[in-house]
Amino acid sequence: MTQVSPFWLAGRPATGDGEIVVTHPYDGRVVGAASVPTQQQVEEAVAAAHAVRAQAAALPLHVRAEALAHVARRLAERAEEIARLITGENGKPLLWARGEVARAVSTFRFAAEETRRWSGHTQRLDTEPAAAGRLAYVTRVPHGPVLAITPFNFPLNLTAHKVAPAIAVGAPVLVKPAPATPLSALLLGEILAETELPEGMFSVLPVPNDRASALVEDPRLPVVSFTGSGPVGWAIKDRVPRKHVTLELGGNAAAVVCADADLDHAAARLGLFSNYQAGQSCIAVQRVYVAREAYEEFVPRLVAAVEGLVTGDPWQDTTQVGPLISVDAAERVETWVKEAVEGGAEVLTGGVRDGAAYAPTVLAGVPADARVSCEEVFGPVLIVQPFDGLDEAFELVNASRYGLQAGVFTRSLDVAFQAGRQLEVGGVVIGDVPSYRADQMPYGGVKESGVGREGLRSAMEDFTYEKVMILTGLSL
Ligand code: SIN
Repeated sequence: MTQVSPFWLAGRPATGDGEIVVTHPYDGRVVGAASVPTQQQVEEAVAAAHAVRAQAAALPLHVRAEALAHVARRLAERAEEIARLITGENGKPLLWARGEVARAVSTFRFAAEETRRWSGHTQRLDTEPAAAGRLAYVTRVPHGPVLAITPFNFPLNLTAHKVAPAIAVGAPVLVKPAPATPLSALLLGEILAETELPEGMFSVLPVPNDRASALVEDPRLPVVSFTGSGPVGWAIKDRVPRKHVTLELGGNAAAVVCADADLDHAAARLGLFSNYQAGQSCIAVQRVYVAREAYEEFVPRLVAAVEGLVTGDPWQDTTQVGPLISVDAAERVETWVKEAVEGGAEVLTGGVRDGAAYAPTVLAGVPADARVSCEEVFGPVLIVQPFDGLDEAFELVNASRYGLQAGVFTRSLDVAFQAGRQLEVGGVVIGDVPSYRADQMPYGGVKESGVGREGLRSAMEDFTYEKVMILTGLSL
């Protein structure tokens, strides 16, 4: 019999009147189920978050920091069990699921550390005669409860990136996990329930997507932090323009391989990171631009790196590429590759679907308007193309609606700084793939890739506003 996980209503386990059944993308077997809250229970969770907001904002820093550190410790203690839960619901190979748990441990640990550094600052105002004896004390205060809408591709760590900074700044948080992968967020709820956080500080509500609009529009949830698809994200922002909305959306991440790069290193990294998590990461490598003088030498190395990846059963320790989240997702990728081929693209390797799995694929000669080039493929497909001169390379990278991260393989500091100046993205990675993310660094996009930044300190700033108190009559 399938075990039905309770959801978390204001810090307590609860069951509702429906279930979301969770299946394993690799073989379709049922791996669990999540109880779905009723409308009344969702209302109770929102009311509890609203009611506790002042108490939450006033929680001593040591209470917040200890709760966050507790979550980090418990995630580490239960790491293997949680990795298996992630593989079960998401289908990503254990290799990547274990990595995700390790990252979530760091995410909560960084949040605990940032909480202890979360101080205001003072600013002397007696720079002008009219303000003699005046001092500003500047703090950051939470906007209020955060609605965290999280995606399926990192069901634990991208939930952590919203929950941890919310707790750090003293904001209640309601999580609406992706319906395909609610179990990791529910397990996080179980660990949060072991802490001393006040009732109402967190809820995890696995409601179907068509019930999310009411939460988005609820005025008691002034912050909406969304990670997911562009159309949904921008529709949220348009629907509630007066709320504080942060969007981590997609991208079609590009990498530039210059002639002076270590071609073996570049090929190995690009091959792996176009296919990690079956390409289901917003910063998976999708477009690779190679200096023409290195192109003939580089492409066979790239193809060999891709063909050398271990594909198949996500439960095997050695598997690097598993299934996509669903057969539908793999069929979409298949359609996009076929379209590119009909437009003149050449398949250098891959191009084959088997159920929810799609073979790691490299395409050359792809028309610029093919969807595998200009949309977010979110699958194990990369396109490779030569360029003549850096200006052309950077133009190609920038010729995108998106701008999340880009990678540049070069040994030249000049080129590195030029890339830093010219590439229209939130992050430029020199000497590695655009898929590199350290959880403590600012992370987010420009253009249609989103607004706002994650990374603990950045998200804490995003969830708060500056408030100033002016002291007068002082002898400074
Ligand atoms: C994302 O898909 O945006 C997250 C990537 C990551 O956290 O590594």
